[in-house]
Amino acid sequence: KPRPAGQGARGPPRARAAPFPTAAASHRKEHNMKILVVGGAGYIGSHVARECLDSGHSVTVYDNLSSGSKGNLFPEASFVEGDILDYPALLSAMRGGYDALVHLAAFKAAGESMLKPEKYSLNNLNGTVNILNAALEAGVGRVVFSSSAATYGEPKYLPIDERHPTEPENYYGFTKLEIERILGWYDRLKGLRFAALRYFNAAGYDVRGRISGLERNPANLIPVVMEAACGMRPEVQVFGNDYGTKDGTGVRDYVHVSDLARAHVAALEWIAKNDRSLTVNLGSEEGLSVLEIVEAARRVTGRPVPAKIVGRRPGDPAKLVASSALAKETLGWEARHS
Ligand code: WQD
Repeated sequence: KPRPAGQGARGPPRARAAPFPTAAASHRKEHNMKILVVGGAGYIGSHVARECLDSGHSVTVYDNLSSGSKGNLFPEASFVEGDILDYPALLSAMRGGYDALVHLAAFKAAGESMLKPEKYSLNNLNGTVNILNAALEAGVGRVVFSSSAATYGEPKYLPIDERHPTEPENYYGFTKLEIERILGWYDRLKGLRFAALRYFNAAGYDVRGRISGLERNPANLIPVVMEAACGMRPEVQVFGNDYGTKDGTGVRDYVHVSDLARAHVAALEWIAKNDRSLTVNLGSEEGLSVLEIVEAARRVTGRPVPAKIVGRRPGDPAKLVASSALAKETLGWEARHS
């Protein structure tokens, strides 16, 4: 099993660079920041942009619309169509005098990442290095990064807390962990403060119905179940029912996207206030099985939601449930809608 580069190696030097100019010079309180949301036309990104606006911050979205959609943009937010692999365009967008950026622009299909690692290296790794270098060059001193429970790999204990070993089982999770490591070095060497938010399974839509962009060809369970509920696909394939779980099917920690969005704003404000970096899990702390999700969808929609048991999907752990104690303690965050 490939171990993440630098695993076990001594971390970056402990000396910390002075606080980044923006952090020191900016007198904007943490309550009316100018925020660049990279990937803000996407599923989670649009919810984060909405929450930033609702919290009184001003927002510009930078997105190449490769998976996001214009329908997910808000009139109150500016929009720059651009690619994170286009450094000049990214740098010019960054020069808007931003207090912080949120980075949610990544490919996220774990299965695909094992077939096309080069696609994930280019977009997730090179793309992020572009974002961080442009941020340093443009003087954006704070980053909230969309990380993932996939950084942990096979659970050694449950619930998973932030001390759990990070041994990703798929290349997607590896890219997320590598980015966290780069952020650690940029914090110590350049004073770039960050929050790495390790999402568990994001689900749901804006509880006030303001966002409705559907993901094209989803692979995640809940969108697949809802496509079966409305006849967009004939059935849900249940990947295995022979796991050592309550009903034999996979158990995951589903966290509502509106709860996730609130955590991003809390993290932005926390970094601005404390001028320190943070890595936290975001989960509901409750595990639900595939069959429980299918049953819930049948109950909520009143539709049959056909489901068929098939073989396991390689690389799937039986159960993944988060401890979000650290997010509660530092950000005062907890899942409300999950
Ligand atoms: C959930 C459960 C499947 C589809 C992945 C990424 C993770 C994060 C969330 C971005 C599992 C089962 C699924 C289907 C099924 N992504 N399932 N039939 O694999 O827990 O996590 O998405 O951050 O990084 O790895 O999510 O929704 O694919 O699967 O039976 O058609 O549903 O086996 O138990 P997963 P998922």
